[in-house]
Amino acid sequence: MSGAQTEGERLAELAKRRGYFFGASGAYGGAAGFYTFGPQGAALKSNVEDAWRDRFTVQEGNFEVEAPTIMPEPVFEASGHLDGFDDMLVECPECGESHRADHLIEDETDLEDAESLPIEEVEALIADHDLQCPNCGAHLAGESVESFNLMFETNIGPGSSTPGYLRPETAQGIFVEFPRIKEYARNSLPFGATQIGRAYRNEISPRKSIVRTREFTQAELEQFVDPERDEPELDEVADVEVTLYPATEQQADDGDYVETTVGEAVDEEIIGDPWIGYFVGIAQEWYERIGVDMDRFRFRQHLAGERAHYAADCWDAESEVDGDWIEIAGFAYRGDYDLSKHGEYSDDDFTIFRQYDEPKTVERAGVDPDMSVLGPEFGGAAGDVKAALEALAERDPAAFEGETVDVDVDGETHTVDTDVANFSVDEERVSGEHITPHVIEPSFGVDRTVYTLLAHAYGEDEVDGETRSYLSLSPTVAPTDVGVFPLVSNVDELVDRAQAVVDDLRAAGFSVVYDDSGSIGRRYRRQDEVGTPFCVTVDRDGLEGDGPDSVTIRERDTARQIRVPIDDLVAELRTVESGARTFDDLVEAYELVAPGANA
Ligand code: GLY
Repeated sequence: MSGAQTEGERLAELAKRRGYFFGASGAYGGAAGFYTFGPQGAALKSNVEDAWRDRFTVQEGNFEVEAPTIMPEPVFEASGHLDGFDDMLVECPECGESHRADHLIEDETDLEDAESLPIEEVEALIADHDLQCPNCGAHLAGESVESFNLMFETNIGPGSSTPGYLRPETAQGIFVEFPRIKEYARNSLPFGATQIGRAYRNEISPRKSIVRTREFTQAELEQFVDPERDEPELDEVADVEVTLYPATEQQADDGDYVETTVGEAVDEEIIGDPWIGYFVGIAQEWYERIGVDMDRFRFRQHLAGERAHYAADCWDAESEVDGDWIEIAGFAYRGDYDLSKHGEYSDDDFTIFRQYDEPKTVERAGVDPDMSVLGPEFGGAAGDVKAALEALAERDPAAFEGETVDVDVDGETHTVDTDVANFSVDEERVSGEHITPHVIEPSFGVDRTVYTLLAHAYGEDEVDGETRSYLSLSPTVAPTDVGVFPLVSNVDELVDRAQAVVDDLRAAGFSVVYDDSGSIGRRYRRQDEVGTPFCVTVDRDGLEGDGPDSVTIRERDTARQIRVPIDDLVAELRTVESGARTFDDLVEAYELVAPGANA
């Protein structure tokens, strides 16, 4: 049966049947692009978030924040999202269905980057290729393509005088709080701030299950650096091997992947910025640890037309599912774009004081206008003329070389005698200067990571003469750590001991499922299918021998079982879960139970 299904269909079916995720609000017909994570999915997602937090916040010594998901309009005027966060919309004239025009073109032609094309070209391509509505088949040629802003708008408080928006990226919640977060970092660069939370985009056509949704979870790190002084610890990841797909290779006729190390990629400027290289290296190792199949994973550089309005360079981490490459993280060089904009649009200070190694003597041009002359001459505008002279002296000292100097105030030009302006250049000792930090942003899609893990973990094989399907999820992220069973459910002693094992494992921090229903083989299959790495079975053999009471531990992927004293169970599961030992090590140390003994 599974042969006829695509990977995506099989995943959607498994996700729904086993409680990973399903369309939300189904009782009322649902709404496209919104998903509920069921018990298995919520646990898996939360484990992915914990693993991310551990690597990108705790191990890096960064600060985690939690900002509101609704932010007032000025935030997005400054960030550029109000003007620039658009997709191309074409509406079907027959059925009224909305479509993303660039996706229609990419689906039906060989073009891969339609998003970067101007609207007129997209309209022409729709006509040239006679594209049709995927919903009803109507011809779309001649329909206008519109820019559609992806932000969800709302009103803050009663009435409509304070518009707000659901944040389209968690990043802005970090940028607008920079003036406060920098205090926490003792005004010293470099430092990183992270946030894991929901973001919202009113996608024109949500698709591919939880890959393109209207509400999703991001895990973002904003690394604030002094671009002239700060460098990452590149040595830590220099030897990490990566598969890169640079823009030049994507555009070449015989373009190919570049298999290299992070160190070489930065040395050879395939990756232009060392900070991006550093985070690419960390991400490669992190994805491997949580169970992404590295044969179905790559880093692809954005083509120039693909980059977001704030990004000078960007690499995506991409995973392959169903033959398609999915962006699961982006590594963008945002420069000083965001902090400069918020500095310009608000009254807050988005700079950091850069202390010089030694104080410097600098020349400072200034004026000290004679107000007893300016007052009578310019009346109410005298104060503004003075301010304009001060600004001009800083900006263009040469303007004061003549006998008079002109300044503009409210569109009117005022002429002042240079003597009256009292222009001078003085020497000053300064200990530093204010700079706007640059930002490097690793931004991870949590839902898409979950989707990838499920797709890459799926396997089928034959155990005890039966086909079984299983998820080989890494113990780091598996929703349930251990399944615990009494071999049979009608023997009180086995049930009681199994319950006691459950209590011990839970007390030790393991997530445990107890199951006594159905044959033991069926119970193993149930746990295999949801990716539980280990099952512990309490059987009579373990309680009746001469030695200490024991249980069996069964490893999901190979279905091998070993017999372990109950008193050692917690410690041994801990060692394999932490990666300190493998199950193979345990097989060496303990008695292997014959296949089929506890089938
Ligand atoms: N902060 C990057 C993004 O949301 O795509």
